[in-house]
Amino acid sequence: MTQITASAAAAGTFTIGPSTDQATEQALTVNRLGYGAMRITGEGIWGPPKDKPAALATLRRAVELNVNLIDTADSYGPNVSEELIAEALLPYPAGLVIATKGGWERVGPGKWTHNASPKHLVAALEGSLQRLRLDRIDIYQLHVPDPAVSFEASIETLARLRDEGKIRHVALSNVTREHIQRAQKIVPIVSVQNRYSFADRESDFILDYCEQQGIAFFPWAPLGQMREAHEAIEKEAEVLRMNGADALHASPLQVALAWLLKRSKVIIPIPGTSSAKHLEENVAAASLQLPQDAYDRLSAVVPPPASLRN
Ligand SMILES: NC(=O)c1ccc[n+]([C@@H]2O[C@H](COP(=O)([O-])OP(=O)(O)OC[C@H]3O[C@@H](n4cnc5c(N)ncnc54)[C@H](OP(=O)(O)O)[C@@H]3O)[C@@H](O)[C@H]2O)c1
Repeated sequence: MTQITASAAAAGTFTIGPSTDQATEQALTVNRLGYGAMRITGEGIWGPPKDKPAALATLRRAVELNVNLIDTADSYGPNVSEELIAEALLPYPAGLVIATKGGWERVGPGKWTHNASPKHLVAALEGSLQRLRLDRIDIYQLHVPDPAVSFEASIETLARLRDEGKIRHVALSNVTREHIQRAQKIVPIVSVQNRYSFADRESDFILDYCEQQGIAFFPWAPLGQMREAHEAIEKEAEVLRMNGADALHASPLQVALAWLLKRSKVIIPIPGTSSAKHLEENVAAASLQLPQDAYDRLSAVVPPPASLRN
């Protein structure tokens, strides 16, 4: 039997759901370190993964390590990520929350097309229900607002599907604070998923709004998709080491995840990986307590842009 070395439970929990639902079966309590299932597809998030057994093993390992929030989308593959989740994890363990998305189609390797029309969203949701083999999606996220479709029309469609019982909770991705507020006039919004890391703070004030409202915030690219953030993290980790603060015994990427966990109690990072080994390293960050001085140094790497605070 594989030895368990890390647990997402060490990050504590967050209860996702409108505040009025907190004591009901609608409330979803998850460990605060999730898993992003975009990376278990082929190159350019297109087609099947190069190593399907490794992808299935990564998903199963996530659950073994007490990850109980998995993020996916119909467009990852397309279809591939959702199909692999069902293949790896059925029957789903009690308490596993799958958050999927619709409204942004994948039409080729690295190519996206907006489509959040009411007609498309209804069809997209049916496809996700079939692939995930569920009667209801726990968290259904509008992947991104479609500039060619009324935002209200997209949200009203998701609200109707929620009323029909096909969606438990409606959520948003790639939005401004104004979008969240407009959507909240139509239906409760339980989570927001925007790009965010200590080195990528454009959504800082949106995160603050989520915190005020008790909305969960899933930062995507929490590892900076391994580019700028990684370099910034490496640089800062070196400075911390030089200052004698190397007792963290953590990799730069683990430090980046620990920064997110400390930044706000509504944050649930969803690091993406196609490797069980990387997954284990990422989940191990759940138990890393970042000292305040290290947190402050990382917070100062990219000050939030004042011009975007409106
Ligand atoms: N809403 C949206 O528009 C949107 C957009 C992008 C992503 N997402 C979601 O957010 C999740 C996370 O974002 P992301 O996957 O783009 O970026 P990320 O989590 O910042 O970084 C993923 C990259 O880091 C590598 N990596 C992960 N753990 C590692 C480790 N311990 N050591 C070394 N390398 C490691 C992965 O490669 P390996 O596979 O080799 O580990 C992959 O290349 C996605 O999976 C997806 O669910 C949402």
